[in-house]
Amino acid sequence: MPRSLKNCNNFQDLKDLARRRLPGPIYHYIDGAAEDETTYKRNTEAFQDVDLVPNVLAGVENIDMSVKVMGHELGIPIFCSPTALQRLFHYQGERAVAKAAEKFNTLFGVSSLGTVKLKDIDELINTPKMFQFYFHKDRGLNDSMITMAQEANFEILTLTVDTITGGNRERDLRTGFTTPPKLTPKSMFQFGIKPAWALNYLFREKFELSQLASHVNEGTNISISVGDYFTTMLDQSMTWDDVIKLKDNWGRKFCLKGIMSAKDARMAAEMKADAIMVSNHGGRQLDGGRSPFDQLDEILQEVGGEIEVILDGGISEIGLESTVVDLSTSKSIILRTGGIENEKIKEIFAVLEKFTAYSAQKDLFVFALLATQGGFYFDTSTSLPHLEQNLLLQLQVFLVES
Ligand code: LAC
Repeated sequence: MPRSLKNCNNFQDLKDLARRRLPGPIYHYIDGAAEDETTYKRNTEAFQDVDLVPNVLAGVENIDMSVKVMGHELGIPIFCSPTALQRLFHYQGERAVAKAAEKFNTLFGVSSLGTVKLKDIDELINTPKMFQFYFHKDRGLNDSMITMAQEANFEILTLTVDTITGGNRERDLRTGFTTPPKLTPKSMFQFGIKPAWALNYLFREKFELSQLASHVNEGTNISISVGDYFTTMLDQSMTWDDVIKLKDNWGRKFCLKGIMSAKDARMAAEMKADAIMVSNHGGRQLDGGRSPFDQLDEILQEVGGEIEVILDGGISEIGLESTVVDLSTSKSIILRTGGIENEKIKEIFAVLEKFTAYSAQKDLFVFALLATQGGFYFDTSTSLPHLEQNLLLQLQVFLVES
């Protein structure tokens, strides 16, 4: 098992390192998914049957990776999807990931269950920001979050629509994971054997769910599992009518995350959402669901060219999520989170550039991106030797007909 980033050569190594550094319940919260985790596995496996036929000799010394997503020109066709509880994984949390996103001139997403205030993120970076929104029963809380996001100059609101009830995350049930972490003899043992994490948690900035803290105690002062949070706090009565009102109330770019069926994609296009994220929440909600990658074709056939389509999920076992960006029809298909905070991430992008060179016709771009289920963060001081070589060996790159 690697002891530091220096020894990490692939995603599994990074995952192992995260496991080494994080208390068990926290690691399993990030890495886990619902029930038998069939969908979680399928998200990755969906990519494995696709193989690559490169075109070569296209003169590719200059590659333009920029792409427009919801009106924003991004330097790379990858962005940091919102993930919850980031300061639980690393004390710098969203601040570090935001800076990494800014470095690559890409979009940074902050979760409703984020751990840094939206206004602080606004002060920190100059690149576009997305606020991921959970529709709560408490309308006062909803309004307050929307106002906070507007005042903090967030350009995009992304409503998650696949959390109408909590996923049955059996690893969390086993470990007793809650936010904030509950101090039971079992969990104290887990925290005690990860002293570096425990010291950061105890002595750095107090943990909070910054967007909720002024309205509810759940998550910040009352320990609750994420599944229970969804079930008790979010509004199960939410329908398309609520979504339309929310979009109008927001008044800026609007995206729906968690769309999987072509029928819902059609509805999203009809209501004039700017984008959808084809996502099954990393398999953390409904086990048995299809993978976003497998569903992409059907969705693009339904709404391709009418609405931007972003691919979320399907992280491979090597830690690189395959992503397709079809520039010909401005259907941007991108991402899933990540946020490996490391100077050397540049090297990874350099490698990605080489890969994209193979499809240098520009009408079809193929990407693999660094991502994890929930995001693992590492020290910036370390480096990734031989990264390029390893990535070249291990990247999975996929061509999909445009
Ligand atoms: C999750 C939420 C919070 O744990 O996005 O999946």
